[in-house]
Amino acid sequence: STVSIIPVPFDRGATRRGAGQGPDAIFGAGLKRKLDALGVTYQVDDLAALPERKDEAHHPRLNHLTEVITMNEQLAARVSALAEAGTFPLVLGGDHSIAIGTLAGLTRHYRNLGVIWIDAHSDLNTPNTTPTGNIHGMSLAVSLGRGDRRLTSIGGVKSTIKPGHVVLIGARSLDQGERDFIRREGIACFTMQDIDRMGMFRVMEEAIRISSTGTDGVHLSFDIDSVDPKIAPGTGTPVQGGLSYREAHLAMEMLSESGILTSAEFVENNPLLDRGQKTSRLLVGLIGSMLGESIL
Ligand code: ARG
Ligand code: MN
Ligand code: MN
Ligand code: MN
Repeated sequence: STVSIIPVPFDRGATRRGAGQGPDAIFGAGLKRKLDALGVTYQVDDLAALPERKDEAHHPRLNHLTEVITMNEQLAARVSALAEAGTFPLVLGGDHSIAIGTLAGLTRHYRNLGVIWIDAHSDLNTPNTTPTGNIHGMSLAVSLGRGDRRLTSIGGVKSTIKPGHVVLIGARSLDQGERDFIRREGIACFTMQDIDRMGMFRVMEEAIRISSTGTDGVHLSFDIDSVDPKIAPGTGTPVQGGLSYREAHLAMEMLSESGILTSAEFVENNPLLDRGQKTSRLLVGLIGSMLGESIL
C-alpha cells in the first residue's frame, strides 16, 4: 500500500528545542531518494502550521499542555483519515508527545492495536509520577488511557490500547512510577539487560508474536534515543548503553519480513544536537530497512 508520510515539526513536549526540525533533517538526509530506490510509493501529507498562539496558562506537571493538545488533535484526525483510506501512515517527529495523536488516530480505526515501542524510556509517566512535567514522558500512558483527561480524550471516540498488546524494547531509564506501571499492568518489557542476554533476534521474535496476537494492526513507535548515543547523538534525552547499529537494523529488518506493521513513527530526532547528519542518516537507513531494504 501507499506510504503516507506525515511530518510533525513539534517539540513542546520536551525540554530541549530542536526535535521540531527533525522531519526536515530526515528529508535532508535523503529519505525520498531512499524510498524511490526501494520502489516504495508514497505521498507527503503536511499538517497545517501550528497557530502561533502561546500557552499563557500554567498547567502544573503538564508543560505546554495547550500546544500539545492542539498539535495532537490535528495529527489524530489526519492519521485516522489516512489509515481509513488504506495507506500506511509514517509519522516523522517531533518529540515523542506526538505518539498521543498518532495512536489516538490509529485507535479510531483499529479496535485492537498492537504497539511495539522501541525507546530508552517507557514514556509511562502521569502527572502524578512525572519528574519533569514533560508530556513526551507520558505519551504511552495517555494512549493506554491513563493520566490527564484533556490528553486521554484527544481524538474523540476510539478504542483503548490494551496493556497486553504493548511491547517495550530497549528500556534503560525508567522512573519508579513507570516501573510500577509496567508491573501492575503486566506490560511486556525487553530491557537492554534482556537484549544483552537473549540477543535482539529472540527479543524481536517475541515482540512480533506478542504484538500481533489478537490484534488487527501493529504500530511501531521508534524513539531514536533507543539507539546508543555514540551512534545516534542527535537526541534530547540520551542514555548510554543503547542499541547498536546492527541491533536497530535487525529489528527493522525482522519487522519488514514479518509483514505485521500497519503504521510507524520515528521520533526525537534533534538535528541541533546531531554531529553533522549522523542521526538523520541513520533514521533514513532504519526506515529503509523497515520498508524492505536488504543487504543482498
Ligand atoms: N522519564 C523522563 C520524563 O518523564 C524522560 C522521558 C523522555 N522521553 C522521551 N520521549 N525522550 O521526563
Ligand atoms: Mn483498514
Ligand atoms: Mn520516548
Ligand atoms: Mn526516549
